[in-house]
Amino acid sequence: MDILELARTRYTTKHYDASRRIPDALMDELLEVLRLSPSSVNSQPWEFFVAGTDEAKERILPAVLDFNRDRVAKASHVVICAVHDDLNERYLDELLKQEEKDGRLPTEDIKKAQAASRAHFVNLHRVSASEIHAWQARQGYIAQGVLLLAAAALGIDSTPLEGMDFNKLDAVLNLRTKGLRSIYAVSLGYRDPTDSNASRPKSRWPRERIIHTI
Ligand SMILES: Cc1cc2nc3c(=O)[nH]c(=O)nc-3n(C[C@H](O)[C@H](O)[C@H](O)COP(=O)(O)O)c2cc1C
Repeated sequence: MDILELARTRYTTKHYDASRRIPDALMDELLEVLRLSPSSVNSQPWEFFVAGTDEAKERILPAVLDFNRDRVAKASHVVICAVHDDLNERYLDELLKQEEKDGRLPTEDIKKAQAASRAHFVNLHRVSASEIHAWQARQGYIAQGVLLLAAAALGIDSTPLEGMDFNKLDAVLNLRTKGLRSIYAVSLGYRDPTDSNASRPKSRWPRERIIHTI
C-alpha cells in the first residue's frame, strides 16, 4: 500500500452511488480499525453508532443539514461518534478493569500507576463540563482521521460531516439519557461516477508554510 498515494487520492465524497453497499465483512474490518484508534491515556471516550439500513438513515436524516442530506441518504453506512458528558470514577474503574482483562496490567504496582496517571490527566480536563467535553472531542477526532484513511485503504469513499444538528441527532438517538453527546458523523460508501469532487485537485498550504524544522 502506498500511503502517500492514499492521502493524495482519498477525498470528501459529495455524491454517492446509492445502489452500492459496503460488504458486511469489509465494514466489520473498518469498524475494528476504528475500535483500535489511539487516545490520550487510552481513555477511548467514544461510542459509535452505525446506520447501515435505509430505516436507520431515515431516522437520522432530520438531523442532517440540507446540503448534506444526499451524503447521508445515498451513502451505504453512516458512523456517528459520541462522547460522554463526563468521565467519572466509575468509567475510569471500568476502563482499568478492561485493561487488566486484556493483560496490560501484569502487577499491582503497574495497575496503581496506570490508574493514578490516567486520573491525573483526566482531572486536568475535568475542570468544567465544556473542557472535559472538548478534551473528549479531541480524542474523537483522532478516531475520525483513522477512519477516513482506513476507509480509503479499503477502497471505501467517505465524507466527514459536521453539517448536522447535533442536538437533534442526540434526541433522535436518545443519546442524552445515556450521558452521551454526538460530535460528528462520517458517511461511507462508493462515489457516484459523476462526483466532480473526485477529480478536482486538492488544495493545501504549501509545506514551508506549515511544517517547520526546529
Ligand atoms: C471535521 C470535518 C467536518 C467536515 N464537514 C463536512 C460536511 O458537513 N459536509 C461536507 O460536504 N464536507 C465536510 N468536510 C469536508 C472538508 O470540507 C474537506 O475535508 C476539505 O475541504 C478537504 O478536502 P478533502 O477531504 O477532499 O481532501 C468536513 C471535514 C472535516 C475534517
